[in-house]
Amino acid sequence: MVGTTHNYEGLRAIAERHGQGHLFQFWPQLDEVQRAELLADVAEIDFELCASLLDEFVRRKPVIPLPERIEAAAILPRRGEGPRDGEYDAARRVGEEAIRGGRVAAFTVAGGQGTRLGFEGPKGAFRISPIRGAPLFQLFAEGLRRVGLRWGVTPAWYIMTSPQNHAETRAFFDAHAFFGLRPADVIFFQQGQMPAFRPDGRMLLSERHRVALSPNGHGGSLRALATSGALADMRRRGVEQISYFQVDNPLVAVIDPLFIGLHVRRGSEMSSKAVRKADDLERVGNFCLADGKLSVIEYSDLPDELARQRNADGTRRFDAGSIAIHILERGFAERVTEGRLGGQLPWHRADKKVSTVDEHGRPVQPAAPNGVKLEMFVFDAIPLARSAMVMYTDRGEEFSPVKNAEGVDSVHTARRDMIRRAAAWLERCGARIPRAADGEPAAVLEISPTFAMDADDLARQLPEPPTIATGAHVLIDEGREWPCADPAASI
Ligand code: UD1
Repeated sequence: MVGTTHNYEGLRAIAERHGQGHLFQFWPQLDEVQRAELLADVAEIDFELCASLLDEFVRRKPVIPLPERIEAAAILPRRGEGPRDGEYDAARRVGEEAIRGGRVAAFTVAGGQGTRLGFEGPKGAFRISPIRGAPLFQLFAEGLRRVGLRWGVTPAWYIMTSPQNHAETRAFFDAHAFFGLRPADVIFFQQGQMPAFRPDGRMLLSERHRVALSPNGHGGSLRALATSGALADMRRRGVEQISYFQVDNPLVAVIDPLFIGLHVRRGSEMSSKAVRKADDLERVGNFCLADGKLSVIEYSDLPDELARQRNADGTRRFDAGSIAIHILERGFAERVTEGRLGGQLPWHRADKKVSTVDEHGRPVQPAAPNGVKLEMFVFDAIPLARSAMVMYTDRGEEFSPVKNAEGVDSVHTARRDMIRRAAAWLERCGARIPRAADGEPAAVLEISPTFAMDADDLARQLPEPPTIATGAHVLIDEGREWPCADPAASI
């Protein structure tokens, strides 16, 4: 293999210098292909960065001090009522202008491994919609096509993958003709990785010739935007605002003119959407003022007594849950990613079961956590913004993540919520929805995001409300089938 020797010597020396020479312990037994794979893994590691984190995060459990003052943050309402009316109308116009001017791009973080869902493949390929079985990526693509139909410009779409799912994600888009988008406007790039460590600081091998590497968290997206050239590409295209969302939420409004407009008019560098929490301890991040700075405190870090606190009127004091939807100003992303360690956010430790090998190279499947993984979270960028805002949105309209195979935030709840939202939109258009005794729609309903992006849009599009019989399957779309939109895939 060309250059292997050189790489080998250089990389081995760096590993030895950092006390990680054991990564090469099986070298004599590896064939050429395996050696190349090991070298490629080792080349990915930022040894200096890892060394600087070992004492604080790996060799002992980090004690992350809570801010001295944790207060409720001011959150903008979803609708401009009373004196806000004018501001919201103006903001919506500003957002629409930004879209028409090509100044807005969509950005999906899709690097995570859908382990909890038990799905083999990129999570965005998971077929979720209730009638067509459209995968998550298709729903987002359709949302972007609707934006193009409404305002004449289809936003560019940046998709962050990880080395684990990059090739498969690209192949999925190829196989489905990019769901009708121009391939040149869909830009894939990979996020960075971090090795998993033993608690003594030694990096783990997942096989004799592979380092146990995993994605460095969605907070790695900032650095990856810069190093991949995505930010430079945005600059060339004239993109100024980045509409960020996670791959797991089929209800997301991929581009929301009101949200974009409020963000622009308020001079916010990073904006976020929140929902009112379903219960005190819901597993979502909490928007707070931490020592006076707008921040998200993860559910696992917010002390229970604070999570349960009430205001004088009985409402929850910390009620704004993060749904991981943000707008980032491109200039802000550029500013925080300058320099060698640019884009570095605080690290969070997770103790995980990591498949590894014993001293003879035999596979080991641990029964208990044996490895430490380090990840960054994108919401930790909020306190770095010179100005940041949060607005509430309605959960039923915009948030129903697919995280688990069953139970809370599952395939079942996401499909149910898609049907509920379609029913609510159709009702707003004058349709009569048959309902079961428990109040749930007694029909399977699906509205393609290419057809309508919200209830008002649907009302504009539908000549008259459809008649919906009990038990019917009603699909409202633009009348075109994309290759994966198999009508037989009714679920
Ligand atoms: C996350 C948020 C939580 C928020 C909730 C909303 C964290 C720590 N918490 O929870 O505050 O309320 O979503 O649904 O994120 N991803 C990458 N690369 C990675 C890791 C993740 O791209 O290295 C992507 C995943 O593909 C997914 C998203 O980030 O789209 C969320 O990751 P996940 O680990 O599922 O977050 P949660 O803990 O569920």
